[in-house]
Amino acid sequence: MDFKKRVLCIGAGYVGGPTMAVMASRCPDYKVTVVDINEDRINQWNSENLPIFEPGLDEIVKQTKGVNLFFFADIPTSIREADIVFVSVNTPTKTFGYGAGMASDLQYWEKTANQIIEHSINSKIIVERSTLPVKTAQAMERILKSKNNGLHFEVISNPEFLAEGTAIKDLLEPDRVLIGSHQTESGLKAAREIVDIYSHWVPRGKIITMNLWSSELSKLVANAVLAQRISSINSISALCEKADADISEISFAIGSDSRIGSKFLNASLGFGGSCFKKDILNLVYIARSYGLFEVADYWEMVIKINEYQKERFIRNIIETMFNTVVNKKIALFGFAFKANTTDTRESPGIYVAKKLIEEKALLSITDPKALENAKIDLAGMDSTVVYEPDPYKATDDASAIVLVTEWETFKALDYESILKRMKKPAFVFDGRNILNRRQLFDIGFNVYAIGKPPLNHFD
Ligand code: NAD
Ligand code: UGA
Repeated sequence: MDFKKRVLCIGAGYVGGPTMAVMASRCPDYKVTVVDINEDRINQWNSENLPIFEPGLDEIVKQTKGVNLFFFADIPTSIREADIVFVSVNTPTKTFGYGAGMASDLQYWEKTANQIIEHSINSKIIVERSTLPVKTAQAMERILKSKNNGLHFEVISNPEFLAEGTAIKDLLEPDRVLIGSHQTESGLKAAREIVDIYSHWVPRGKIITMNLWSSELSKLVANAVLAQRISSINSISALCEKADADISEISFAIGSDSRIGSKFLNASLGFGGSCFKKDILNLVYIARSYGLFEVADYWEMVIKINEYQKERFIRNIIETMFNTVVNKKIALFGFAFKANTTDTRESPGIYVAKKLIEEKALLSITDPKALENAKIDLAGMDSTVVYEPDPYKATDDASAIVLVTEWETFKALDYESILKRMKKPAFVFDGRNILNRRQLFDIGFNVYAIGKPPLNHFD
């Protein structure tokens, strides 16, 4: 079949895979190829067991794979063929040298730019899909121009706003699609080509075009503002625990103000995920490198409150369990950084598990989808940890349940039968405020939730 355009995506991860599957399903006139340096990942995409779990992903990949969606390990050939290249390689926090622990590590990104100039035989549009520091497109352009081979590479910023667990829905019905370009004739022409792709399924009013640097920076700011809301409510949860107020009631009260809105006000044991912390650190680093110290300090507090919240949660567990958890079995309910994903990157579960292991507790971890990743995260320090798919078995002889991830299945368990399996006094520490505290208390648990007065049988 003759395709209108050939789109390539470099990076077959959490963003590249789902994004391109949705694009292929909505643009049958485009050929969409996805490549990755990790051949195992490509093989998984080509198998029945996709490398990531997202509700709705399997179906959409089944409809399109081999029709106009192709997962391929041959990067040079794919680059040669492509008209438009989306780049969604990882951009983790730098762990070495200047900016270690703060700046973005752009080595994967730079390698991609070099691969593109090495193998290109036609001019292309290069689309930044990874989250990048503002002005990265400038560096990309300098690399792409360095070969002086007569080809023209127009760099466009098109940041991704999907959240894991709802990726397919977010991609099919995005709040907005952002396309940033140089405001030059060739920049605007390239932006129009990207608008054409999204117009296949996104209403034109939701496709926002703007200046390249505003687009790059908008992505960092979107994540910073979302995380800031969580840190704001989490900071107030500490105050609620002192003042006998209830954080859920406060979230409801303030969220009912249409100027504030109700989303991202759920108090928790802290936010996780591969991006919030990394992107805010990057924003802080950029602000500091421009000498904007007050701006940097302001955003850094969002991270500090998150660390404080995780630490506060674990300290409360230990103090409540009579200041020792040595040899006590503790069931961790959940390990993924949020529900409906296998992803555990920066999960608060990692922090909680490591601290409890240090305190010599005996952990039994249960999670509907993330146990394999949990094993990788705790490798080397998990000689006493049990990974148990069945939440009931995970609670056998346990002294406490620590709820880390808000999986629906945890709400529907038979807690009376769980209580019978557990040692007494039995504790529940709900790090997500999803369990029915009053009911758990009434059947005999001592219940501690985030930002709510404890319900215990000791007084
Ligand atoms: P990921 O680690 O799941 O996937 C990145 C992939 O890129 C990996 O499979 C890696 O092998 C591949 N890769 C790296 N260098 C390569 C190269 N030179 N050639 C070919 N392949 C290469 O990462 P992700 O979660 O998909 O995130 C990608 C980017 O998107 C990051 O910048 C992230 O900040 C951003 N983002 C992520 C999400 C999310 O929900 N995960 C959402 C929005 C934006
Ligand atoms: C987040 C953003 O929501 C996406 O728009 C963005 O594209 C993505 O980061 C990215 O750049 O990677 P994600 O990290 O997948 O998406 O998931 P979120 O739903 O934002 O949750 C992040 C963390 O905050 C999770 O640990 C979640 O449990 C926690 N959270 C979320 C709270 O503690 N309280 C809330 O009210 C909401």
